Amino acid sequence: MQANMAHELYQKIAETKLLPLYTATDLSLLGKLEEILVKNDVRFIEVTFRSSLANEAIKQLAASGELIVGAGTVRTLAEAKSAVANGAQFIVSPAIVPEVIEYCIQQDIPVFPGTATPGDIQRATEYGIRVVKFFPADIYGGLKAIKALSGPFYDVQFLPTGGINEDNFTEYLQDEHIIAVGGSFIISESAIQKDSEAADKTLAALVAKR
Ligand code: 3PG
Repeated sequence: MQANMAHELYQKIAETKLLPLYTATDLSLLGKLEEILVKNDVRFIEVTFRSSLANEAIKQLAASGELIVGAGTVRTLAEAKSAVANGAQFIVSPAIVPEVIEYCIQQDIPVFPGTATPGDIQRATEYGIRVVKFFPADIYGGLKAIKALSGPFYDVQFLPTGGINEDNFTEYLQDEHIIAVGGSFIISESAIQKDSEAADKTLAALVAKR
């Protein structure tokens, strides 16, 4: 089993129920991002390695200490190591990446490997992992699939991402095997850029509905 760090984080994620996934292409918006998340008491952010600014964004957000900052879309050991060196407190991958999982376990960093099939989930549990990302949730059967997978994997909790949106997220959250939902629908750089007040209101509405 992943040790203490993971348990504490799982508890906090389970309370927050929302894990925003954020890709940074403009560091000047990070202050606004942090302000909106703090205001709505969503103290998590998953910064993805889908832009070259991931490490710098993780570093800046982690340094201010207001949010629990994680790294997402982590596909290599090098990304995991640099994210952790810059202050990432958890790692999310789109798949099972053995070297990333092994490194995180060694460093006592909570890791959410991406899974979509019984085989993937089995592999994750063999590492002692009990909370997995389920991705892409909408394509791989959504809530119906999670319910079916929770039969044999009764001791696993799921973090579905991919195609989760403001219309379907509450349905996911009603399932006891779902720890939280993740995705870019919670807040995004483009939403902040376009109208930060509207982004704030959108988040407030999600928080109220969860
Ligand atoms: C992920 O990596 O978790 C997904 O790409 C998120 O999907 P979304 O953009 O549909 O929320």
